[in-house]
Amino acid sequence: MFYARTVLSLVSLMFVAVPLAHAQETSPVTAIVESWMASPHGDRKAEAFVHWNTEGEVPGECATCHSGLGLLDFLGADGSTAGKVDGPAPIGSPIDCVACHNQAAKDLQQITFPSGEVMTETSASAVCMVCHQGRESTDSVNAAIAGGEADTTNGDLGFINVHYAASAATMFGGSVRGGYQYEGKTYFQRFAHVPDFNTCATCHDPHTTKVVAVDKCVTCHKGAETISAIRITPADMDGDGDVKEGISGEISTLHEKLGEAIQLYAKDVTGKPVAYDTHAYPYFFNDLNANGAVDPEEAKFPNSYKSWTPRLLRAAYNYQFLAKEPGAYAHNPKYAIQLAYDSLEDLASKATVDMGAMSRP
Ligand code: HEC
Ligand code: HEC
Ligand code: HEC
Ligand code: HEC
Ligand code: HEC
Repeated sequence: MFYARTVLSLVSLMFVAVPLAHAQETSPVTAIVESWMASPHGDRKAEAFVHWNTEGEVPGECATCHSGLGLLDFLGADGSTAGKVDGPAPIGSPIDCVACHNQAAKDLQQITFPSGEVMTETSASAVCMVCHQGRESTDSVNAAIAGGEADTTNGDLGFINVHYAASAATMFGGSVRGGYQYEGKTYFQRFAHVPDFNTCATCHDPHTTKVVAVDKCVTCHKGAETISAIRITPADMDGDGDVKEGISGEISTLHEKLGEAIQLYAKDVTGKPVAYDTHAYPYFFNDLNANGAVDPEEAKFPNSYKSWTPRLLRAAYNYQFLAKEPGAYAHNPKYAIQLAYDSLEDLASKATVDMGAMSRP
């Protein structure tokens, strides 16, 4: 059924969506199909597509982003109401040609983010932003911590996971509040970058999903041997004295310091040590032996961290936001830095966090 649909979509692509001659000149359809099949979007065995196999269907709340058919439903491309998913989607439907190449996706210009903010995107990358936007926001974190004393443990609080690679939320920054934004602070908005590389599908090949080669970037970013070595900003924001490292290095140091500050705060303020495991859900666990790491016997769901204070929860939210968004340095570097910096500063009001030479952009 899946293959039948793919073939159909190919035929329609060749004759309707893309003039065949043009497609052959620039990028033959077969090459596109092959690169798509080898890509994460076409990987039918990936966790992102097999997670629901035992349930037998992808629930509506997950279907928009984890099923090509679910996206068609959300976009209204299947004749249903646009902007919502009507029900569960069948398993085994990765993000195929039709998911991105249909009239509704082409016409799509308004993207609603988890905060409720609606952004306009007129490029072909609008469809990417439907899925790569995360599932939580400043607003949902604030709703959870509302009314609580900042440093009082609340057993009703659970970790809030933004979900994975919320790249579009990072890119739009302050306007969509995908990271936890502290009251009274201002945040960078959309990372404008440069016209040739300011959308998802110009920096990423939409079919392989890989980032374009660094030689496309060095006309402006002279001397950068890898993309992660790119840097323009002169300020030493992470305070490590190195202003030659890529901007990615500024973010990773601040992120690491934030991890340390979270542990320090938990130990000193709640008296319940915490540790983070990037692979085990829900990521934050009681550090029972206080060795600073999650040991295999600690990485169990019943040992999930449950001693959240509002201040700790919002810092942990930003820690995870950045941990699961490896492209933040290219999507909106200074927004990422602001998130880490502000979380550090908030924790420093209660724990002995040294922010000595750090600076906020
Ligand atoms: C229907 C939802 C959906 C749409 C639309 C979508 N993606 Fe994805 N994307 C996903 C999912 C789910 C994965 C993870 C797939 C996997 O793990 O195999 C993913 C994976 C990726 C990855 C690889 C991430 C990694 O961990 O290596 C990149 C990069 C990416 N997408 C970029 C894009 C771009 C660019 C577009 C638009 C041209 C786009 N996506 C459109 C849902 C979507
Ligand atoms: C707004 C879009 C969106 C929604 C809704 C969504 N996800 Fe995802 N999810 C993604 C994207 C995008 C990725 C892949 C990120 C990447 O690898 O770059 C992902 C990845 C995952 C993964 C794979 C993580 C891994 O380690 O490979 C799981 C599991 C998952 N989601 C579960 C769920 C569940 C369960 C739901 C519903 C309750 C859900 N998602 C709803 C966008 C979404
Ligand atoms: C994740 C979304 C996505 C998926 C899946 C996808 N495409 Fe595309 N495709 C795009 C985007 C975005 C463009 C660029 C369109 C633009 O710039 O106007 C594009 C462009 C094209 C083009 C024009 C030539 C080119 O290279 O720019 C062809 C042909 C094409 N796609 C075919 C396919 C086929 C066949 C499949 C399935 C094997 C497929 N696409 C899957 C998003 C996608
Ligand atoms: C200025 C270029 C640029 C733009 C624009 C851009 N990206 Fe990225 N993206 C990158 C770089 C560089 C990385 C990091 C790749 C790495 O380090 O492996 C990345 C990483 C990612 C990842 C994670 C891949 C992984 O290996 O886990 C996803 C998903 C992603 N981008 C999606 C998007 C989406 C969706 C958009 C549009 C909202 C977008 N990107 C816009 C350059 C860009
Ligand atoms: C036409 C020139 C030009 C090209 C080509 C270009 N960039 Fe940029 N880039 C800039 C400018 C200008 C800035 C500063 C933008 C700002 O801060 O608002 C920048 C900033 C950046 C930054 C943040 C650096 C910092 O220190 O804050 C990253 C990362 C980046 N570009 C990645 C890329 C990647 C990846 C490519 C290739 C896909 C690329 N750029 C291609 C001009 C360019």
